[in-house]
Amino acid sequence: MSSKRSLYRQGVTTFKIVGVSGSLTAPSRTTALVEEIIRVLGEELDVDAHIIRLSELGPSFAGTLVRSELPPLVEAELQRVESADLLVVASPVYRASFTGLFKHLFDFVDQYALVDTPILLAATGGTERHALIIEHQFRPLFSFFQSLTLPLGVYAHDSDFTDYLVSSPALADRIRKVIERSLPLIRSNAAERESIARALDGGLVAAAVSR
Ligand SMILES: Cc1cc2nc3c(=O)[nH]c(=O)nc-3n(C[C@H](O)[C@H](O)[C@H](O)COP(=O)(O)O)c2cc1C
Repeated sequence: MSSKRSLYRQGVTTFKIVGVSGSLTAPSRTTALVEEIIRVLGEELDVDAHIIRLSELGPSFAGTLVRSELPPLVEAELQRVESADLLVVASPVYRASFTGLFKHLFDFVDQYALVDTPILLAATGGTERHALIIEHQFRPLFSFFQSLTLPLGVYAHDSDFTDYLVSSPALADRIRKVIERSLPLIRSNAAERESIARALDGGLVAAAVSR
């Protein structure tokens, strides 16, 4: 578990949420979906939200092969990902998977930085046929990172949006249901991390006193 996350600070209840939209275009249905999920999360939690849009960030790192050569702006975004309390990750389906740039970004993320981080998985596709991308592509990637992938994901398709905004009642219901099912896990994960932080703080104090 990373000691950098905000909830490690005793008494802090604001959730640092980082959204990642793997879309290469703007406007984007995927970005709209991430924004809507975070907006609804904000109705339930005190959130400090930041969204990474690969349509904006992508050109800054698409040609970079090693992390040490990334521009400072991209390195700063990676550190936000690595220190988030909750990630909302989404990509359009491209050729039955997430976009190459989405994977390229996560290839730079430290292998152990996302251990136990709750991750809400989401995707958009042209049709309903690729809904299992959540299970077949996203979940294995974040299982590799030993993250806490939340049990329900959100899959949307083009007809769920009007003018690049979520417009179908079915999608809005799905988002609410996913968040309702996720909140107990998100809260218990945060409580556990807070108690570990308290124990570590106590241990440090005890070690200092015994010196
Ligand atoms: C290169 C490319 C490949 C795509 N491949 C698929 C696909 O395999 N399955 C699918 O359902 N939609 C596919 N689509 C459609 C997009 O996933 C869909 O329109 C998505 O909602 C676009 O999201 P955006 O508005 O955030 O860019 C593809 C689109 C592009 C441009």
